[in-house]
Amino acid sequence: MRNLNQDNITQAVIASFANTTDPRLKQIMTSLVQHLHAFAREVKLTEEEWFQGIEFLTRTGHITNDKRQEFILLSDTLGLSTLTVAMNNDKPAGCTEATVFGPFHVKGAPHYELGADIANGAKGTLCRVRGQVRGINGEPVPGAQLDVWQSDEDGLYDVQHEGLEQAQARGILTADSEGRYHFRSIVAVPYAIPHDGPVGAMLEATGRHPWRPAHLHFMVTAPGYETLITHVFRDHSDYLDSDAVFGVRQSLVCDWVQQPDGSYQMEYDFVLNPAK
Ligand code: BEZ
Ligand code: FE
Repeated sequence: MRNLNQDNITQAVIASFANTTDPRLKQIMTSLVQHLHAFAREVKLTEEEWFQGIEFLTRTGHITNDKRQEFILLSDTLGLSTLTVAMNNDKPAGCTEATVFGPFHVKGAPHYELGADIANGAKGTLCRVRGQVRGINGEPVPGAQLDVWQSDEDGLYDVQHEGLEQAQARGILTADSEGRYHFRSIVAVPYAIPHDGPVGAMLEATGRHPWRPAHLHFMVTAPGYETLITHVFRDHSDYLDSDAVFGVRQSLVCDWVQQPDGSYQMEYDFVLNPAK
């Protein structure tokens, strides 16, 4: 362990994990060190750059609190969230695809009756949303629970409005005996992910924008089925081809149809995978 150099430091660190009792932790730590060292070698990391990286992660930690999760934003904007979702949600053809969770879900959102207005005062144009939850064999999923959340006309989630206590444009609905659901809300619009922190600085420095295409978030749960965490995207929205967090799947894009009175209607069916 003395006089370690650039040729043997990696093996020395890996050997230091020899007594790790959890085999999965040992595998992860070993691989992490291998890849981290390989990265530093490949780019010939300077001491100044290494320190900039430390400062970046320090700022990422400092700006994170119970309302702002900069590490999730970092994972999302580097595609790590989409990679992890894709690797862990390999479903049979026909099932609704999953996509990133994002940082704006709130546990314990209000429960609403079918048909209710979940906007609850959020600013925006009326949008009626409906559809059915089914299983892979076409069977309806009665009583499926749909946890829905979205931003308002200004591109902000309720939790981003300073001092707003009540839930807006989020809620939980229970599908009927045929798995059908419907509710009223507002039309989602494209919005910029929080970019006044280190992740925003990274996006700017790399010539990227912080925008996401218009979407509604859904978490669909039902006994006997895998939980589905996904979005429904609005067709023709800006940024469908350059989502800052790489979350778009073509199968999740649907037409939100404008009505003669200016309001919108969106219909989307979810197909759940049976639980293993
Ligand atoms: C969202 O859609 O709410 C979201 C996802 C990833 C990063 C930021 C926001
Ligand atoms: Fe979102």
